[in-house]
Amino acid sequence: MAEVKFFGGENIPLEMHKVRIVQKLTLPPVERRLAAITEAGNNTFLLHNSDVFMDMLTDSGVNAMSDQQQAAMFIADDSYAGSATYTRLANKLQDIFGMTHFLPAHQGRACENILSQVLVSKGSVVPMNYHFTTTKAHITLNGGTVEELVADSGLEVVSVHPFKGNMDTGKLRDVIGLHGADKIAFVRMEAGTNLIGGQPFSLQNLVDIRKICDEHGLLLVLDASLLADNLHFIKQREDGCKTLGIREITRRIADQCDIIYFSARKLGCARGGGICIRSEEMYRRMRGLVPLYEGFLTYGGMSVREMEALTVGLEETMDEEVINQGPQFIAYMVDELQKRDIPVITPAGGLGCHVNAMKFVDHIPQAEYPAGALASALYIASGIRGMERGTLSEQREPDGREIFANMELVRLAMPRRVFTLSQVKYAIDRLEWLYAHRRLIGGLAFTEEPEILRFFYGRLKPVSDWQETLVAKFRADLGDSL
Ligand code: F0G
Repeated sequence: MAEVKFFGGENIPLEMHKVRIVQKLTLPPVERRLAAITEAGNNTFLLHNSDVFMDMLTDSGVNAMSDQQQAAMFIADDSYAGSATYTRLANKLQDIFGMTHFLPAHQGRACENILSQVLVSKGSVVPMNYHFTTTKAHITLNGGTVEELVADSGLEVVSVHPFKGNMDTGKLRDVIGLHGADKIAFVRMEAGTNLIGGQPFSLQNLVDIRKICDEHGLLLVLDASLLADNLHFIKQREDGCKTLGIREITRRIADQCDIIYFSARKLGCARGGGICIRSEEMYRRMRGLVPLYEGFLTYGGMSVREMEALTVGLEETMDEEVINQGPQFIAYMVDELQKRDIPVITPAGGLGCHVNAMKFVDHIPQAEYPAGALASALYIASGIRGMERGTLSEQREPDGREIFANMELVRLAMPRRVFTLSQVKYAIDRLEWLYAHRRLIGGLAFTEEPEILRFFYGRLKPVSDWQETLVAKFRADLGDSL
């Protein structure tokens, strides 16, 4: 695809869409932002949207839909069983992935529940490039354990490796050797590997893993929630794929897999989810759980409107000019932050921009949650809501000891087609200001710590009056600016 070159030499992403519906935003003054984050217990999940300027918490269910998706919602066929909407969606998935069977579910984690209940039992092992929180929770709930086999380069924060989501095939062979193939429930590959910074795997890596699975009679399951970004990176970065179309790359990926599941809150820019299955026998084993947990087989807990939007969204995912928008904006943000020496995960991945709090606030000990503190400070400085992805997102050991995370990140998700370049520039500017004053940022301590998923509901307080000092500095530097 031809890139748009600017005569002036500037390297900026160009939107290949125009905005036709808008939502008014408000940016509360810095004093209100301090009050709001205090009311939210310094937990960005607990902020009210009315206090948030740029919501960069996640890209889940908040990507902008196209006019075609919105239009399709009006022709949705509302019926409990046998809906034409379901047939259109199932046909589209079969057309794209070439798998015969489809089970709908209300979102990605619901697919993980079904897969784990059917395939995982006590003592099962599930090797994967990297875990996602809900995936791991469902596997462990069913008595299995997760083996993370991402290649070592995947955990290097600063890197130029094009495929940091690749699985280490040597490690996979070792794990199979250690446990025996009969203990392996399935091998899972996650596209656009979420928790290590939206990093892709290569098609070649998937082909290599398929070969190993074949040698041992193992199932290969793809989590395709972040497939759109991964497709873009394969097309851009992988030798041998640069001349292939997105549809062809998609089919080559699918051809390696036995099962593909996804969150349609990400893939297809809609809401919902589903499982595509190659074998009739496997389909029959999983089918019974859909009416039990999700809804009848022809909607699976999704609204038919969302299903129509998903069908169109999946087709739009095959368009390179659609799926390159997210990664291009993220690459712009990452590059600009790097120019300002602000520590971020590189190379730029999909999903969002990941700020490395371990370095940004290297004076804050992990026991005082540096990534949580930075997310709180960034909200105060900008009204931008990011997500802590560090020690706060871990769970304590049963004896109460903290598990310190490998990485302390603040994820600034880039919902697709939602923010303009000037808004992204604002985010960069406020991060630059904050970086200049990073020594003012202090740690956090729990005031209320739930036992499970503490990052969702937990409340924290600053360990000193650092937040008031930050607000005073903001006023001193930026006057009466919002
Ligand atoms: N798999 C991946 C790779 C995901 O990123 C997510 C969700 C899920 C599965 C679960 O799907 O939310 O529809 O149940 N990720 C969201 C996020 C929550 O914010 O990154 P779900």
